Amino acid sequence: MITIVGSLKGGSGKSTLTFNLAVWLVMAEASVVLVDADPQATLTDVVDVRGEEGFKPRIEVFGKDALSESRLREADEALIDVGTSDMESLRRALAICDRVVVPVPPSQADIWSTQRFIQMIATVERATPPEIIGFINRGDTHHAVQETNETAAALVSLPGLRFIKPRLSQRTVFRRSFSEGLAVFELEPRGKGAREFMSLTAALYPRLVG
Ligand SMILES: Nc1ncnc2c1ncn2[C@@H]1O[C@H](COP(=O)(O)OP(=O)(O)OP(=O)(O)O)[C@@H](O)[C@H]1O
Ligand SMILES: [Mg+2]
Repeated sequence: MITIVGSLKGGSGKSTLTFNLAVWLVMAEASVVLVDADPQATLTDVVDVRGEEGFKPRIEVFGKDALSESRLREADEALIDVGTSDMESLRRALAICDRVVVPVPPSQADIWSTQRFIQMIATVERATPPEIIGFINRGDTHHAVQETNETAAALVSLPGLRFIKPRLSQRTVFRRSFSEGLAVFELEPRGKGAREFMSLTAALYPRLVG
């Protein structure tokens, strides 16, 4: 399956999610092609850090030249991190993917931009459009803050998007693990961040769980 992690907004958590999913998939013994199609190359940087530290399993990442359907279908799973500064790569990836996973931080601006992203995806010519899956990233851990639940409610009713309930909260462990070249469940296997991430993987890859 070819999965894009994408959004029109910067800083929504695309590279963080892509990296964590890549480590998890490799540990689940799936063959994975990981593609960094963002000129910022954040995903490439974190994979480099992981390699320099010698953490196992080893992760390999390819550049945008790997964005060909035949190449991506060689593996069980393909994961593509795309930014919007390279629209050509984004469109190429959208033309060949099976689905787009959109991390949405809790804010009105992020809801609007998700709406625009759905419209943009619809302009890519394809026989069958990709599935678009949205989830909350960087959700507030305080229940008194309503913005996270309001954003979830808005996503539920957004046409063209399948909202999945598991959310990742705003937690320093996501930042810390990433800067060390580790997945969140490697740094703090029993932590809340790891638990949230595992619920998300079960929703995204039900066949690989359980
Ligand atoms: N759930 C989270 N909790 C705390 N920090 C997070 C979370 N998700 C992402 N971050 C942090 O937010 C910042 C942006 O994340 P990331 O680089 O993954 O986003 P991005 O969508 O790839 O950004 P860009 O559009 O610049 O490529 C990073 O510092 C990252 O560590
Ligand atoms: Mg990024």
